[in-house]
Amino acid sequence: MNNSNLENIAKLMVAPSKGILAADESTGTIKKRLDSIGVDSNEKNRRTYREMLFTAPEIEKYISAVILFDETLRQDSSSGKKFTKILEEKNIIPGIKVDKGTWPCPGFNEYPITQGLDLLKQRCDEYYELGAKFTKWRAVIKIINSFTPNEVIEANALALALYASTAQESGLVPIVEPEVLMDGNHEIDTCQKVTETTLRIVFDKLNQFNVNLNAIVLKPNMIVPGSDSDQDINYSEVADKTLYILSACVPKSVPGVAFLSGGQTEIQATENLNYMNQSTNLPWEVTFSYGRALQQTALNKWGGKDSNILNSQKAFIHRAKMNSLAHEGKYISDLET
Ligand code: 13P
Repeated sequence: MNNSNLENIAKLMVAPSKGILAADESTGTIKKRLDSIGVDSNEKNRRTYREMLFTAPEIEKYISAVILFDETLRQDSSSGKKFTKILEEKNIIPGIKVDKGTWPCPGFNEYPITQGLDLLKQRCDEYYELGAKFTKWRAVIKIINSFTPNEVIEANALALALYASTAQESGLVPIVEPEVLMDGNHEIDTCQKVTETTLRIVFDKLNQFNVNLNAIVLKPNMIVPGSDSDQDINYSEVADKTLYILSACVPKSVPGVAFLSGGQTEIQATENLNYMNQSTNLPWEVTFSYGRALQQTALNKWGGKDSNILNSQKAFIHRAKMNSLAHEGKYISDLET
């Protein structure tokens, strides 16, 4: 795969009025989601749930790409067709999570570090053969008592850079996801400080390892207070602080920023994205790559029952459409009713 192909794929992933569905919950995480609606997490139920999302009518109007987990990338749908094929027939780009989750960081055991560099090149080469066009690696940066050691950020950023370089060498566009977690009681300024340090170090490392920045998608957190903080913040403050930090740290050559939702409510995630896109002259596309903020209502409405599939798909498409409007700065809350 040459550079211009990779750059084209990255641009398509963040195309105007579209965004990315994160449906790459690991086996442990999808079990938590299905447990929450009283559904057993077996292969058949996971397939039914994901098939319901991917076959939702008009998904292709709002969703450019879907991040899959290993099981789903290899899986046939109920019709016997591979999920990758179902997505490609709708011009939706299939991608794959390649990290192996988190582990206590050596020397700083309270803080996580993401694993998965062992045999990463072989995994990426195989995923390319299986039809993936892009990959995702999530680095998790935890704030404890309003503090994260630089060493932990450095180690996570080094892994992200080695991953991104490996993915591009295998012909895959890397989604680079440094997530500063919402967990904790810190205030918004702490999130801002840690996110700024993280993004600066991540881009230093990406440059050191010769990552082509025209062929990545950055997936950061928004700048928000910790989930246990009682600080009251409105969406303009989140959006202004987030854009301020992105402008300081993210080179203009990056084609797109696709946010994670990270524990925000569905509506908050849409409002914040919308407000950012009301700014003029953003140098990158600014869009969504949400998991929970696209799926939560749909998951609840499904509840594991075939008779609820249509209603669940409607709820999923509604969120996809609201976020598609937010990518254009054209969302209005009246559309929620
Ligand atoms: P959330 O939007 O639920 O944070 O998930 C996005 C994601 O892909 C996390 O890695």
